[in-house]
Amino acid sequence: MKILIVSPEVSPYAKVGGLADAASSLPRALKRLGHDARVIMPCYKEIDDNGFTLRKGRKSVEVAIDGVLQKGLLRQTMLEGVPVYFIENRDYFYREGLYGNGSGDYSDNAQRFGFFCHAVLQLLRRMDFRPDVLHLHDWATGLIPVLLRTKLKDDPFYGRMSTVFTIHDFGDSGTFPASILETLGIERTLFARDELAHQEQISFLKGGLAFSDLITTVSENYRDEILSNGAGGGVRQILRQREKCFYGIMNGIDPKQWDPSLDIALPRPFNSQNLNGKKGNKRALQRELGLDPEPLIPLLGMVTRFTRDKGTDLMIDAWERLLARDMQLVIMGKGEERFERFFRDAAARYPGRVAIILREDAGLARRVFAGSDLFLVPSRHEPCGLEQIVALRYGSLPIVHKTGGLADTVIDSDEQPRKGNGFVFASATPEDMIGALDRALLAYENRRQWLKLVKRGMTHDFGWNSSVVSYTEIYRKAMDQQFVL
Ligand code: GLC
Repeated sequence: MKILIVSPEVSPYAKVGGLADAASSLPRALKRLGHDARVIMPCYKEIDDNGFTLRKGRKSVEVAIDGVLQKGLLRQTMLEGVPVYFIENRDYFYREGLYGNGSGDYSDNAQRFGFFCHAVLQLLRRMDFRPDVLHLHDWATGLIPVLLRTKLKDDPFYGRMSTVFTIHDFGDSGTFPASILETLGIERTLFARDELAHQEQISFLKGGLAFSDLITTVSENYRDEILSNGAGGGVRQILRQREKCFYGIMNGIDPKQWDPSLDIALPRPFNSQNLNGKKGNKRALQRELGLDPEPLIPLLGMVTRFTRDKGTDLMIDAWERLLARDMQLVIMGKGEERFERFFRDAAARYPGRVAIILREDAGLARRVFAGSDLFLVPSRHEPCGLEQIVALRYGSLPIVHKTGGLADTVIDSDEQPRKGNGFVFASATPEDMIGALDRALLAYENRRQWLKLVKRGMTHDFGWNSSVVSYTEIYRKAMDQQFVL
């Protein structure tokens, strides 16, 4: 099969969240199965800043945005045998950040990503690659199915091209004033149908949901939650209509990239057969962060974004109670200013017990996974979640809120002693979170039992093997299916 993955972010070139990792490891897994999978994304400044050199192509397109022709130049590189294409337009993409800068989203995001959607479709004609399936990710790609099924529907070149639209986060819907449609060269009547428009607003996300052949999201549980509770932007109605076309497929992680026995960021590589190495990582982490060098005290790690959605406020509400427990805490993240301020002050008050890292540091994050005993993910919503999976791989037992992909990957070891691999709390409250933490701390005291849990977590297969097979089945279905709204 020929598959083009279209994503606004792809690791290692430019990343904001877990979408970038999924959009990078999925095509490589497809390639290993023998498919011709390729990737396309915007060419951001960050790609330059990250030191990547891309081949300059000669192929380009012009897209009229607000009546002005905007040029998109195709550039290219290879990622482990997978061709990765970039669309360059310096006005739109050569800026700080992907979607916005420190003061918020860019006000012309509709133009930027509207341009991207048009340019992807037009460039297909110039590339020696005609995909069977366009696999689109998140709102920024949502206009592609709209254009394919409306404006381009009678064009034989696009005739049998199928679309699968994957939502990594329903929280972001790309909502803009409906007048933007004219700016982007789309007839209002095509898009602004009742289910797509809402009070003079249109949403790219809704466009993707309504016009793609099949829809997926990144865990089965999150799919069910969205269908029953809805999400921001009022998308439930469309999803209910299209329930039979809507699937949940768990993300995998790249097993080579996340392997504690090969990880060069760790001072002591280790595996499930040799957990002594894990002790060495804990010692080294304590030293690196100025924590007391106590080998037995439980060390709780967090690598997160400081937002309400990620449950940072629960941490703050529970702070005194957390600190009343005999444990050390390492919290790494960035995010809302009020939360950063809280942690900055808190760190100073508990020297030797609490370490706060208010920056992104990929190597140190890996050492936190490897050096911690417990890993907390209190997200209110988490479509899939990567941290809890990495924590399991690195022998740190997750404590998670029962939501989305967290609930699909972490099994409570008190509830299911034979299968458990962590601790789960039912509601996003400080009380429930502390309850699960206390159960975890109690379990930690029984060393033999604890090591059994750690080994179980480390040896579970969270790779792409089964997810990639599910995706290929979805691609086949999309190809067989006649699109109907
Ligand atoms: C988004 C979701 C996260 C998921 C990731 C990759 O960042 O918030 O839960 O793991 O996408 O699908």
